[in-house]
Amino acid sequence: MKDLTPDPATLDPIETASRDEIADLQQRRMAWSLRNAYDNSPFYRRRFDEHGAHPDDFRTLADLAKFPFTLKQDLRDSYPFGMFAVPRERLARIHASSGTTGKPTVVGYTKTDIDNWANLVARSIRASGGRPGDVAHIAYGYGLFTGGLGAHYGAERLGCTVVPVSGGMTERQVTLINDFRPRIIMVTPSYMLSILDEFHRQGLDPRQSSLQVGIFGAEPWTNALREEIEQAFDMHAVDIYGLSEIMGPGVANECVETKDGLHVWEDHFYPEVIDPTTGAVLPDGQMGELVFTTLTKEGLPMVRYRTRDLTRILPGTARSMRRIEKITGRSDDMIILRGVNVFPTQIEEQILKCPGLAPHFQIELLRRDRMAALVVHCECTPDHASDDARAASQRDLIHRIKSVVGISTTVQVHDPNGVARSDGKARRVVDNRPR
Ligand code: DLL
Repeated sequence: MKDLTPDPATLDPIETASRDEIADLQQRRMAWSLRNAYDNSPFYRRRFDEHGAHPDDFRTLADLAKFPFTLKQDLRDSYPFGMFAVPRERLARIHASSGTTGKPTVVGYTKTDIDNWANLVARSIRASGGRPGDVAHIAYGYGLFTGGLGAHYGAERLGCTVVPVSGGMTERQVTLINDFRPRIIMVTPSYMLSILDEFHRQGLDPRQSSLQVGIFGAEPWTNALREEIEQAFDMHAVDIYGLSEIMGPGVANECVETKDGLHVWEDHFYPEVIDPTTGAVLPDGQMGELVFTTLTKEGLPMVRYRTRDLTRILPGTARSMRRIEKITGRSDDMIILRGVNVFPTQIEEQILKCPGLAPHFQIELLRRDRMAALVVHCECTPDHASDDARAASQRDLIHRIKSVVGISTTVQVHDPNGVARSDGKARRVVDNRPR
């Protein structure tokens, strides 16, 4: 793989500013953001008043802890436009989460918000090794989901030639990669695996493709999967994080030269990690729930938004802005099995260690003899499809999960292509326990 470290002269000056400069900017922007929320969003005015917090109480960044949290439920309760801090006419765009049940959560952006977002995604692509003039193949879904359009505007802003493919039609994805010769692909890591299968199905060598950088996010994935994809395509695989409530993709991004966690773009988002049970702010370095306050957002300011994503804050390395460790998972996806906490990423790691297994999987939760049971559905690689080979892979995986994760599981090794594929975010956990 080529060294793709960006030329330092192309970085935004704030990316390498001193911590003091960053904190100073954050403090000024935070004061503005709290004031904007209080003055212009009836939701925040009520919430701050109930909590006995006023924007005038904010003097230093430590004062943020006096302000109340915002939850996903608050967005649901304000459906559709109740939380905005600008009149609807000033919103240039609306996005919304799919919302598996009930109403989606709606977010909105002013022209300035869209402009900032494009700049931050451009910064993220550059940190990943992208440059002006690159062809960027975007296979995140376009539409209400922020992935497609968010990536698109950022790639255009950086000066790329953008191919807005969206998700799905995997055969065509591979055709276009071969014909347009993109250097960059932006897609969920699980869908990248489907694209990889399609390369093999068409008898093509993925290592000979034009791709040099994959910018993968929108779902948890492991360093083990990074290695798998980097080997398969002979390309860099870099992590991009974001959520629609805060902006969309590009809230944090890894740097291609270090790949050691994601730098939070702290000039626009202030991160905290809290104890998910007590809400207490934890010192940097400790694992907990990630919380964000937006520093520049006009349309939909977010004050101490609880993401439910679990990680810890680490000091800056390639940039002065602090990093978050690769997300372990969402607290919603945590499975508690006979007292042990399990995340799908832990299962992914073990599957990738079994030579006879493909990286696709799904976890099914069942109730057996009044006890919760966990079934791992995975599939064999074509060259390990014999009964003996499958039985060996099954034993191997059960043993690894037992000894590393600490739980007993049932493992079903399906035929190649036997596990459901997604063309966006993979659904890792299927709960079939009776209600
Ligand atoms: O998934 C935004 C996005 C699009 C990010 C494309 C990156 C690339 P939502 O649909 O609102 O927005 O889902 C946000 O997805 O709270 C995390 O749980 C998860 N997530 C996003 N990026 C990562 C990542 C987009 N890199 C939710 N690692 C977040 C782990 C991620 N989880």
